[in-house]
Amino acid sequence: MDLPHLAYFGLKEEPFSTVPSPRYFFLTAMHSTALEKTAYVVAAHKGLAVVHGDTGTGKSSLARLLHQKFLDAGFLSALLVNPNYPTPNSLLRTIAQELGTPRTSRSFKGTLDTLKDHLWSTAATERRTVVLIIDEAQALRPPLLELLRQLINFETNDSKLLQLVLFAQDELRNTLARPALRNFRSRIVMASTLERLSLDELHAMLRFRWQVASGGGHHPFSRDAVATIFEQSEGTPREANILADNSLLLAFHRQSRTVSRAIVQSVADDRRENLARKEAADVR
Ligand SMILES: Nc1ncnc2c1ncn2[C@@H]1O[C@H](COP(=O)(O)OP(=O)(O)O)[C@@H](O)[C@H]1O
Ligand SMILES: [Mg+2]
Repeated sequence: MDLPHLAYFGLKEEPFSTVPSPRYFFLTAMHSTALEKTAYVVAAHKGLAVVHGDTGTGKSSLARLLHQKFLDAGFLSALLVNPNYPTPNSLLRTIAQELGTPRTSRSFKGTLDTLKDHLWSTAATERRTVVLIIDEAQALRPPLLELLRQLINFETNDSKLLQLVLFAQDELRNTLARPALRNFRSRIVMASTLERLSLDELHAMLRFRWQVASGGGHHPFSRDAVATIFEQSEGTPREANILADNSLLLAFHRQSRTVSRAIVQSVADDRRENLARKEAADVR
C-alpha cells in the first residue's frame, strides 16, 4: 500500500494503527499494574485472574503482550481470541488442542481425561506453568464458564495445574453475578479494571507511538490539538488513535507540517456526523 503521508512526516510505519501490536503498546501505570498483577497470579499458580475494561481501553493489546511474556518465560501459554463456542465440548477440544494435548477423544469425558493427564505431566511433573488466556470473555456463556471452572479445579496438593486469565467487557460481571456462577466468581483471586487515560497519559501514549513509528522523532500535534483529541476521545485509547490518524491524513492533504486544534476538531466533527448517519441507517 502506498502511504505518501508517511514520508511527508518522516515516518517508517503508521503510528496510529488500530492493530493491537505489542510494539506500539505504551505501558501506562494502570496497564503496567494490571500486567504485573496478572503475571503474578499466573507465576504463583493461584488460578484465575480477570481484567475488565470498556471497548478500546487496551484489553486485546494487553492479552497479546501477556501471552508473549509467558512464552518468553518458557510457559505453555494459549490465547483464545474469540470464545464464542456453541458447546462446552467444542471449547474443551479447542483448549486441549491449543495446549498441545497429544490426542483428543470423541467424547467429552475422554477429552477431559486426556487434557487432565497432559496438564498433570506438564505442570506437575515437568513443573512448567500452563496458562490459558481468553480475550472477549464476556462472550462465554454459563455452560462454558462452568467448564472453565472444572478445568481450574485440577490441582496438586499445593497448586493449580491450569492458570486462567480472562479479558472482558463489563457484561461478564453481570453474567458472573448469577447465583449459579457463584462458585466460579469465588475463584477469582485478582480483578483489575482498565479505565480511560488522563490527558497526560494520552499525550505520553501519542508521543511514544510517534517515536516508535519515526525512529525517535517528535510528533507534529500542537498542545491544543492533543487536548482536543483527549476531549473528543474521552481518554479512550482506540478512539484517540483513530482521531490522531485521521488528523494526520487531513494535515497531509492540506500540506501542513503541523496538526492544529482546528484540524482535529474538523476530523472529530466529521467522525461524529458519520457515526450518527450510520446509526440512523441501522435504525431504519
Ligand atoms: N496503552 C496503550 N498504548 C498504546 N496503544 C494502546 C494502548 N491501549 C490501547 N491502545 C490502542 O487502542 C486500540 C484499542 O486497543 P485494544 O487492545 O484493541 O482494546 P480493547 O481490546 O480493550 O477493545 C488499539 O489500536 C491499541 O493498540
Ligand atoms: Mg479487544
